[in-house]
Amino acid sequence: MCGIVGYVGRQQAAPILLDGLSKLEYRGYDSAGICVHGPMGLEAMKTKGRLQALRDKTDDGKKLPGVIGIGHTRWATHGAPSDQNSHPHLSDDGVIAVVHNGIIENYMELKEMLISKGCHFHSDTDTEVISNLIALHYREHHDLLEAVRQAIRRLEGSYALGILCREFPRQMIAVKKDSPLIFGFGDGEYFIASDVPAILKHTRKVAYLEDGDMAVFTANSVSFYNALGEPVRRTPETITWELSAAERGGFPHFMLKEIYDQPNVLRDTIHPRIQNNHVVLDEIPFSPSVLKKIRRIYIVACGSSYYVGCVAKYILEKSCKIPTEPIVASEFRYADPILDENTLCLFISQSGETADTLAALREAKAQKAKTLAIVNVVGSAIAKAADQVLYTWAGPEIAVATTKAYSTQLATIYLITLYLAEVLETMAQEEIQAACKALYGLPEQIQACLSQERITQIQYYASTLFDHRDAFFIGRNLDSATCLEGSLKLKEIAYIHSEAYAAGELKHGPISLIEPGTLVLAIATVAPLFEKTMANIKEVKARGAHVLCLTTEDLEQEAKKTADHVITVPKIHPLLQPSLNVIPLQTFSYYTALARGCDVDQPRNLAKSVTVE
Ligand code: M6R
Repeated sequence: MCGIVGYVGRQQAAPILLDGLSKLEYRGYDSAGICVHGPMGLEAMKTKGRLQALRDKTDDGKKLPGVIGIGHTRWATHGAPSDQNSHPHLSDDGVIAVVHNGIIENYMELKEMLISKGCHFHSDTDTEVISNLIALHYREHHDLLEAVRQAIRRLEGSYALGILCREFPRQMIAVKKDSPLIFGFGDGEYFIASDVPAILKHTRKVAYLEDGDMAVFTANSVSFYNALGEPVRRTPETITWELSAAERGGFPHFMLKEIYDQPNVLRDTIHPRIQNNHVVLDEIPFSPSVLKKIRRIYIVACGSSYYVGCVAKYILEKSCKIPTEPIVASEFRYADPILDENTLCLFISQSGETADTLAALREAKAQKAKTLAIVNVVGSAIAKAADQVLYTWAGPEIAVATTKAYSTQLATIYLITLYLAEVLETMAQEEIQAACKALYGLPEQIQACLSQERITQIQYYASTLFDHRDAFFIGRNLDSATCLEGSLKLKEIAYIHSEAYAAGELKHGPISLIEPGTLVLAIATVAPLFEKTMANIKEVKARGAHVLCLTTEDLEQEAKKTADHVITVPKIHPLLQPSLNVIPLQTFSYYTALARGCDVDQPRNLAKSVTVE
């Protein structure tokens, strides 16, 4: 989704903006632009396409001299990707320039009002109403701050804004509501951005703005106001991770780097939370007596985060004996879920900004459910809005296709499960300790899944199977939940039509799609159901399917009797097996996408952080 950068200081703004935008490319975009307040007043340059096109157009920023500016990468919502629809958007009178991340829901009504007052529009975007609305109020009062306040009072929807005014060559205004915006404190310079990597080269001191916040700043001073217009302090936090964590570090793609990051980030997520074979979760704010009253768990999320919830259902129900329902956030909101103070809602999100998940969280809180967020991005909206947050310490995840965030989310689910099972006494002590021990050793097992020998085998299968048009993932129980994630990976980065089914469900319809040569990826790692999955493999093979089976090392020879090809992962504690199983699925999708010539890190039409409904 859109990315914003803003700079006020003593250096040339345009190169800083272009560099900052390059660090936001991962969010997904189709056009980019910058506006600098220079000797000629407000000057904007923008273009459809990749950032390189903007670099070329601006001669790497040299064509836009000036020490204050705003930049934007746009992911089209209102109006096609085009030069005209790219941000920044200037008001019709050229006085106000705006970059915007979010959606203005009542923009048509505002546009009509502005047109009736003689304003001309030059784009199809919702954002253009913002610059014109501010300009309208500015013409009335000649007070910029008041004009911005009056304008945003009329806006319905979400917005992170960077605002420049032709008549204030040294000042910028930033506003945030329901879209991410951070404020960076430099030495004689300030920054705004949608995410930390955009400004980390310049400062580690960052404040996560609150909803309703406004920042008014020059190179030498900044004032913050809250939603009520009251002056407030926004104290910077220090970012401790290195920019290299958000760089490729010698890998050809972020996705591959992030796949290999997994053993380390799992250590960071798991190890501090296990002591003496017990889970220590100081982050869980609910007392044992409150937890004992929990009658139902909802797991609310989108995409891969939701698929973590699908695995979690099996694990939580088996271990904690609490009915657990995973539900996609966009459905939860409108499904009239039955919630009360004895319902625990877990919200899972890498970005912590996903609009549907955030809205679902607000709904759950309004209905008095207990809310716990599992989030990767520190200080994000979902992290702030939940009763409590458990951070997944995956570090910045840049590739659109999640890998290490998924794995750390799953690890966090194991931690919550074992913690709850101990409080609720639904597992024997020895069982809990054995599972904790296995969980502590999970990073090593993941490392084993990434051995060169295993990767070479996956590369081979990707190179021979990459040109299939369709694929089916089948599995039972926990394996069926992992199929969902494997299938999504293949769709999103390799653009292969792929379906995931519970293996026992095929014969109720989808088996009619199996033809000679159809690719079926079967996961068969749940030992008690192994034979049943083999029977399902036989059913598809009888119709001509080509079957690649993923199983545990101990079952390899058995699986070879049925499937065309077999790949293996080590056998681990059954609850944790999904964490190993997903690794070859990630690498298979990665190498398949490469073989198909796809843009692995920035797949078409997708954005990393989905901040619209
Ligand atoms: O940031 P979130 O975890 O809330 O994002 C949810 C989904 O958009 C995300 O998992 C998406 O499905 C990934 N691209 C999958 O790889």
